Amino acid sequence: MALHPLHTLVEQLKAQPIIFIGGKGGVGKTTTAAALASYYASQQQKTLIVSTDPAHSLGDVLDTQLNNAKTAISPYLDAIELNPDVIVDEHFSQVERTIKSYANPDMMPKIREHLRLSKSAPGAQEAAMLESMCQHLVCAADANSDKKYEHIIFDTAPTGHTLRLLVLPEMMGAWTDGLLAQQRRQAKLRSVANHLDSHNQKSSQTDSAQKNHVANPFAAKKPDRWEQAVSVLEKRKQLFRQAGLLLHDRTQTAIVLVMTADVLPLAETKRAVSQLEDSKLPPAAIVVNQLIKPTQADAFWQHRAERQQQLLQDIESSFPNYSLYPIYLQKTDVRGTDALSTLLEASC
Ligand SMILES: Nc1ncnc2c1ncn2[C@@H]1O[C@H](COP(=O)(O)OP(=O)(O)O)[C@@H](O)[C@H]1O
Ligand SMILES: [Mg+2]
Repeated sequence: MALHPLHTLVEQLKAQPIIFIGGKGGVGKTTTAAALASYYASQQQKTLIVSTDPAHSLGDVLDTQLNNAKTAISPYLDAIELNPDVIVDEHFSQVERTIKSYANPDMMPKIREHLRLSKSAPGAQEAAMLESMCQHLVCAADANSDKKYEHIIFDTAPTGHTLRLLVLPEMMGAWTDGLLAQQRRQAKLRSVANHLDSHNQKSSQTDSAQKNHVANPFAAKKPDRWEQAVSVLEKRKQLFRQAGLLLHDRTQTAIVLVMTADVLPLAETKRAVSQLEDSKLPPAAIVVNQLIKPTQADAFWQHRAERQQQLLQDIESSFPNYSLYPIYLQKTDVRGTDALSTLLEASC
């Protein structure tokens, strides 16, 4: 079976600033992501690990309480666990502030009610999470930023959820484009209305028809408020564009899928690979985790090890274009940066 030694994956990803770890629930995404992050940090490469999985297991694996802000795990390793509830709240407060700056104050109670309902609408958490992920992605990859990391590793939620997030930048970009086009049309209308308004005022001075003059609702708005709203949308569009470019740039982003040598993870990984290929985001590698070394096994484990070897043949023939890397099953759960970084050495 042509499994590549794991150290070649570590070497292959060494030059890769952005690494996404994806796969089915429970296969070892968090363990692999934290192992890579701990290893690079132990090599004095500044690394940020960001968990987007609402299951919050990154903090458990790193033996630390994490939150939406960066926590320093070691001099070269920072970690973040994105909490969708907090992010969605922050996101909608920001939206409310933006709307408030240009909406009619009488409308605000209705708008607030609408925003409150939108918070629990399907996709709201994903959209807010995506924006936050893109901000971390773009900020961490910005060569001019003092926050620059050599690696930003995303420990993601189970496959389907992550795949949707990966293709969302394009969809959100198109959606923002629609909003901007609408804003532009309204700006045009306003400028015509302003023109009419000043025209009315001039004529009212001459023909004393002031009492017939109806105040133009658009003219009352300060143009800079509209510009502010447009600039928020423009910034967001730019953010999604930059994130989309980074994701599709193979020299920047590597997607690593983790699976175990079992039937269901194999089926899910096949679907994930074909979806990623369709989105022009082929994975950089596939890690087969929790492998049992046949030499260590008693009768029960020997049987499981043999079963894994049969499945490894299926796995190899299912992914002829991808490199496969093994991680072996350890005696216990792997926790703490020392144990995590040696997991990769133990599997070489
Ligand atoms: N190679 C391994 N050896 C031993 N235990 C492992 C290994 N990989 C993962 N585990 C354990 O399996 C469980 C699930 O792993 P985790 O990384 O949390 O999966 P995921 O993030 O994909 O849901 C955890 O308890 C973890 O410690
Ligand atoms: Mg996990």
